Amino acid sequence: MAPRPGFPTTRLRRLRYHPAVRRLVRETRLSAESLILPLFARPGKGVRQPIASMPGHAQLSVDLIAEEAKVAAKLGLGGVILFGIPAEKDAAGRDSYSPVGIVQQAIKAAKDAAPDLLVITDVCFCEYTDHGHCGVVDEHTGRPDVNNDKTLELLGRQALSHAQSGANMVAPSGMMDGMVGAIRAALDGGDFEHVPIMSYAVKYASAFYGPFREAAESTPKFGDRRAYQMDPAAAAGQALREVELDLTEGADIVMVKPALAYLDIIRRVAERHPGVPLAAYNVSGEYAMVRAAAERGWIDERAVVLESLTAITRAGAQIVLTYWAKEVAQWLG
Ligand code: PBG
Repeated sequence: MAPRPGFPTTRLRRLRYHPAVRRLVRETRLSAESLILPLFARPGKGVRQPIASMPGHAQLSVDLIAEEAKVAAKLGLGGVILFGIPAEKDAAGRDSYSPVGIVQQAIKAAKDAAPDLLVITDVCFCEYTDHGHCGVVDEHTGRPDVNNDKTLELLGRQALSHAQSGANMVAPSGMMDGMVGAIRAALDGGDFEHVPIMSYAVKYASAFYGPFREAAESTPKFGDRRAYQMDPAAAAGQALREVELDLTEGADIVMVKPALAYLDIIRRVAERHPGVPLAAYNVSGEYAMVRAAAERGWIDERAVVLESLTAITRAGAQIVLTYWAKEVAQWLG
């Protein structure tokens, strides 16, 4: 047989024989401190209301949010992100900017229980409005739609109220044009110029949010979110424009969401903006699919989760929001 060029001098398997060599040459490493755990706060005391489509997760009353915050801190997680499900929803989502609203209570409880834990809040209206849309709905465009500019003012109020309750970072997720700038101005006006904004800059109108909407009771009562969240088939360059705009408006960290079906987008944002911290949201539907298959014994949950998070990180995300944050921290030991 004719000698093949490079062989046997070059044998890539040499880097694979010994587990220690495999570990040594790794580039992608997961760590608990880059993971953020989503938590859902609801009214009551001692209430743990399981979320059917997200086994292992529940809506928690504020006292139990405090317990979870302690666990998250102990495990060394990067932080928690809080979502509120108020007792009463209305057209304007008033609970979201009430000083005694559900998420404000949850922030205080989490910070009291675990002062060093990074507490982030989701800034949006869909969990608080009776119609389930991400802002003020009117018909100024000729059909029911979220009024972008009316929503901006309320987003500023909501974010400021979260900061006043002790949130360390706010994360606007409503995909309104100008939301980062409006929130930055509101925070700065309230002397919270030190509170960073993690923007859900690139958020697609995705079917993978289904279980979350059960968790947050936030399914729109009419229509869908396609008039504000991105079209999955849009030019990838549109994602870059979203990121650039948010950075111009003062975003400190940008996010791509969902994660697994959008690894190409994560990679593009990472390459275009190497100096900008990039987060990715491993969303509820991604969680539910793996849990369901694992419950049936069809896949190895731990291996699949670690491989998925490795892929998201390898694509370019430094921060991952995931419903497995606690488990992963334990697995990584
Ligand atoms: C909106 C929001 C959503 C998620 C995070 N923030 C839902 C939506 O846009 O309908 C989804 C997260 C997930 O699916 O895990 N406040």
